Amino acid sequence: MQNEMKQSPDESKQMPSYCVRVEGLTVRFGRNVAIEDLNLECTPGSWTAVLGPNGSGKSTLLKAILGLVDIDHGSVQIGCGSSGIGYVPQAKTLDRRFPATVVEMVSTGLKSRWPFLIPGGLRKKVEICLERVGLRGYNGHLLSDLSGGELQRVYLARSLIRNPALIILDEPATGLDRSGETDMYELLDQLRQEAGTTILMVTHDLDAAYHHATHVLVMNRTNIASGTPACLTQENLKAAFGHGGHEHPSGPWK
Ligand SMILES: Nc1ncnc2c1ncn2[C@@H]1O[C@H](COP(=O)(O)OP(=O)(O)OP(=O)(O)O)[C@@H](O)[C@H]1O
Ligand SMILES: [Mg+2]
Repeated sequence: MQNEMKQSPDESKQMPSYCVRVEGLTVRFGRNVAIEDLNLECTPGSWTAVLGPNGSGKSTLLKAILGLVDIDHGSVQIGCGSSGIGYVPQAKTLDRRFPATVVEMVSTGLKSRWPFLIPGGLRKKVEICLERVGLRGYNGHLLSDLSGGELQRVYLARSLIRNPALIILDEPATGLDRSGETDMYELLDQLRQEAGTTILMVTHDLDAAYHHATHVLVMNRTNIASGTPACLTQENLKAAFGHGGHEHPSGPWK
């Protein structure tokens, strides 16, 4: 029953073998067992895609890793989180009518309070993150004026502001059009290759999991299959979803 950040005193010399290690995780909400005896390991610099049907505990897994829900059994260990963890949540709880600007929202990635006064240095960092997600010049825009896809990119920019070693994304492509989706996956690929960022992403997109992820976890409350994207087979998907997924031109689930 642990939820801990494990960092050695001298991290620069001792690189842990894992970035995220989940062992025997069980999470209950009252009598509802959302996750049962689940295991996951993400090595530094890997990209893990988590797939499973609605209600199968994917978001709960991410929240358990982030320490946002209580763990009933098992453990979660973070081995590479010294610069904080970037998080793009599935549910955006902020009321879109709240008169907030893009620069304020992205700044909340660094501040624990709403940043009404944003110093120049932070403003510059925000600008760099917005540029990375293709939202150059959006600083002063109101969130209420953004499209769903633009808002999603604002959340992505917010997750980048600490230069995190680990980014956790819950269905990040929701609301993005095909080219926005491609841009986002390319950006994540770039972060991984250039900065060695570890990526843990929940997705319903088999194609993205197959072509971008280095590892996959197919789950339904507990592990169904984990390994390389080659384990996205018809059989494993059927075990998780009750059917074999979609017809698709390229992939082992064909
Ligand atoms: N805060 C909560 N309180 C009570 N039950 C919860 C809570 N969060 C999740 N659950 C329940 O836990 C189970 C798993 O939910 P979770 O959100 O993790 O599923 P998911 O795999 O992310 O689904 P989706 O694909 O729809 O996003 C569901 O039965 C859900 O109703
Ligand atoms: Mg979810």
